[in-house]
Amino acid sequence: MNSLQLLSFLLLSCIITPGNTHGGKKKEALGSQSQHTRTKKDHQNLETKFRLYTDTTEEGCQIFFNQLETLDKCSFNASLPLVMIVHGWSVDGMLEGWIWKMAAALKSQHKQINVIIADWLTSAHQHYPIAVQNTRHIGQEIADFLEWLEESIQFSRSNAHLIGYSLGAHVSGFAGSYISGTNKIGRITGLDPAGPLFEGMSPTDRLSPDDANFVDAIHTFTKQHMGLSVGIKQPVAHFDFYPNGGTFQPGCHIMHVYNHIAQYGITGITQTVKCAHERSVHLFIDSLLHNDKQSTAYWCNDINTFNKGMCLSCRKNRCNTLGYNIREERLPKSRQLFLKTRAHMPFKVYHYQFKIHFINEIQGKQIDPTFTISLTGTKEDVKNLPITLVEGINGNKTYSFLITLDTDIGELIMIKFKWEGTAVWENIWDTVQTIIPWTKGTRRPGLIVKTIRVKAGETQQKMTFCSQSIDNVHLHPAQEKTFVRCEDRFPRQNRK
Ligand SMILES: *[C@@H]1O[C@H](CO)[C@@H](O)[C@H](O)[C@H]1NC(C)=O
Ligand SMILES: *[C@@H]1O[C@H](CO)[C@@H](O)[C@H](O)[C@H]1NC(C)=O
Repeated sequence: MNSLQLLSFLLLSCIITPGNTHGGKKKEALGSQSQHTRTKKDHQNLETKFRLYTDTTEEGCQIFFNQLETLDKCSFNASLPLVMIVHGWSVDGMLEGWIWKMAAALKSQHKQINVIIADWLTSAHQHYPIAVQNTRHIGQEIADFLEWLEESIQFSRSNAHLIGYSLGAHVSGFAGSYISGTNKIGRITGLDPAGPLFEGMSPTDRLSPDDANFVDAIHTFTKQHMGLSVGIKQPVAHFDFYPNGGTFQPGCHIMHVYNHIAQYGITGITQTVKCAHERSVHLFIDSLLHNDKQSTAYWCNDINTFNKGMCLSCRKNRCNTLGYNIREERLPKSRQLFLKTRAHMPFKVYHYQFKIHFINEIQGKQIDPTFTISLTGTKEDVKNLPITLVEGINGNKTYSFLITLDTDIGELIMIKFKWEGTAVWENIWDTVQTIIPWTKGTRRPGLIVKTIRVKAGETQQKMTFCSQSIDNVHLHPAQEKTFVRCEDRFPRQNRK
């Protein structure tokens, strides 16, 4: 088992197998939809605590269901939109730190907004399967609460945006599907919706695009082990975002699990697991805090195609903005969007597709060169980015790859392309020279690089770069060539 598998295994065992029992509550076996009975609680209070976030109170101002005066007391403003944060499964029975960060970020950027934290800790602080079973019931309570706001103070449900993390994503989905009447909740955002016991279920048994007018989801920890993953892998929204492919996240070092276990015992696992799982939350907070650094994601079939830089198109809604400021568009089929991110906030990177046409002059020999690339932009320079081609260079072909930059270099104006020399290649060349005598005294065969075509994802700008001296397009090991912007001096190959 590698360390990632070990981690998943430990995590899943702590999720699935009963550990220390919390409370004395006995619950039924896993609920299905048919077992869920809609019971309107008109007079009694709800299990969920609705805490209106304010700058002044530490725990929020609690609004009690069916008690109008608490809406006044907490200064709920019915003419403003409502964002409700719904937490997930709880290991320690406490509200996690990100909840307050998210609430503060929402409030700081959008003063004209009500922010409520739906605190369902008593039902969430259970064995995982019990907490899963409780998600329907809590969803129903949130639906009841929204209906009450509508009936009592004419707050329109289309003005409500539920943001649910992990199990909370499915709670939000149930709230959306249980609310009565034909109108739907405005928006639901699922932040790494929980995978175990939801993956592969029918749309009515998990978060799905039908649950609100608009549903978006961010998947950040879908690495599978034994067929299970912490976050759900399948698309569950109108737009499903898969940062860095969605499996795992940069900066979440798997080795930390050992340090954490050493330091905190077995509960240390949750710290490590949280990193990639909770990244979905911090990506969302990032979208609130950094208006000038909104991350764009691109529609693509899979991460491998994306990693070749093939999907950086924004035509016909192929791209969208990750997080709060997403373009709300309901398409008939859900779209899976991909992007790369940095390891920390602000997470935005700038995506580029590079297309280079190589002609390998050494017929029949595949070359596996290592290249580095240096870019000069109108704002900044980036030096010596390593490039790994997925396949070796053979014959006469265009290669496409993805390059991401942490900084905005402005408009790209010059490219330096270097073939990092290797002894191996020199050997090949020597062999070639002895068996093909005509190369002696003329020039060494190498690679011909005529043009580099670049597409910038963030600006959608397409550019062509040509070798500075048009007569000298031959590239040899340890050599660097400079490419400058040019008109297309060569007929275009297939434009993909
Ligand atoms: C509610 O919000 C609206 C819109 O910003 C504002 O005009 C109104 O004064 C607010 N009401 C209260 C009671 O604060
Ligand atoms: C490379 O291929 C193109 C078309 O596929 C052809 O026109 C060109 O002559 C080829 N170049 C070499 C050096 O083989």
